[in-house]
Amino acid sequence: VNNPNFSESHFLRACRSEPTSAVPIWLMRQAGRYQPKYQELRQKHGFLDLCSIPELIAEVTLIPFHYAPFDASIIFSDICIILRALGIDFSIEEKVGPVIKNPVKTVAEIDSLVAQPCAESLAYVYEGIKLAKKDLKVPLIGFAAAPYTLASYIMASKGSKENSAVRKFMYSEPLAWNKLMSLIVDVSIDHLSLQAAAGVNALQVFDSWVGDLHPDTYKTYILPHMQRLFTALSKLNLPLIHFGTGSSMLLPQMCLPEVSVLGIDWKTPLEYGAKIAGNKAIMGNLDPAALLAPWSELKPMVAGILESGCIAKSHIFNLGHGILPSTPVENVQRLVEFVQGWKESV
Ligand code: CP3
Repeated sequence: VNNPNFSESHFLRACRSEPTSAVPIWLMRQAGRYQPKYQELRQKHGFLDLCSIPELIAEVTLIPFHYAPFDASIIFSDICIILRALGIDFSIEEKVGPVIKNPVKTVAEIDSLVAQPCAESLAYVYEGIKLAKKDLKVPLIGFAAAPYTLASYIMASKGSKENSAVRKFMYSEPLAWNKLMSLIVDVSIDHLSLQAAAGVNALQVFDSWVGDLHPDTYKTYILPHMQRLFTALSKLNLPLIHFGTGSSMLLPQMCLPEVSVLGIDWKTPLEYGAKIAGNKAIMGNLDPAALLAPWSELKPMVAGILESGCIAKSHIFNLGHGILPSTPVENVQRLVEFVQGWKESV
């Protein structure tokens, strides 16, 4: 019988910065369109159905293991699912991503937002976690977006391209901004705590749009909310992974005391990330586009990242952002095999 906590697995040992006999690997967005079995299910079900029906959530979470023995799994969902607890209607559009029906643009609209208990509005996520846990042989990661990234979707509908409007609002209406961020933090704590209660073994916070911000802006408008979020999450006693895209200049602030693993995006030298992380583990950071190259070209890049990772207290191999839909499955299989078989040269 498997210990459902997998506490001595390579992945969880690495999260705690304990030594492992091999570098653990998982890939952000490891379940998705590059996999024929995912494509097959998508012929029958819409993406949001895959995120809303416990049996389907569990089934998609397990798909990656049909192709490769990843060291961790991530619950199949989306960062926007939590918007349902705020009564915000959205769709996911092909090649665009989330589109919010009625973006929240004014102080009055922020004032009118109310958070419903996630236990009621998002029960299927936690049911999906419990079902997936029955069959998984590796630790399961739960997740949520960081408040800035979620606010970007809520206010600008599509994220980055329109984020000057989000920044304008943040600078012009700091009180309303803080109110929105506080509300998102409340609902995120609720959602992540319920994922923990349902059995996930680690939690990841994705800050996909945070690279839009100057470090001083981050410090004033974002950091206090991240501190409150991570302080609350630390009470759950699970490893906490903090990942942002375009985050090089922000890593010193993102490396909060409660964070166990610092995610490094693909534009940041891993050695630099390791220096910032100090005694914490790092996760990353192969360019997702490199996974589209022939293995002969890809292999030395992977080896380079593994070598760089040795500088860190502990290294979890990952991409530096989500896997691309056109990724050849064979490259993923060779990558996992190579990383798990790799030994540090002495
Ligand atoms: O990692 C995993 O395997 C778990 C599943 C997962 C998805 N989205 C599934 C998904 C996770 C962790 C996410 C997080 C997410 N979603 C983020 C943060 C990470 C990042 O990439 O920065 C963001 C910004 C989103 C918002 C979102 N949802 C985007 C940008 C897209 C892609 C749009 C496109 O067509 O390329 C989605 C949709 C989405 N989320 C898909 C999947 C598998 C594709 C849906 C489909 O089947 O058509």
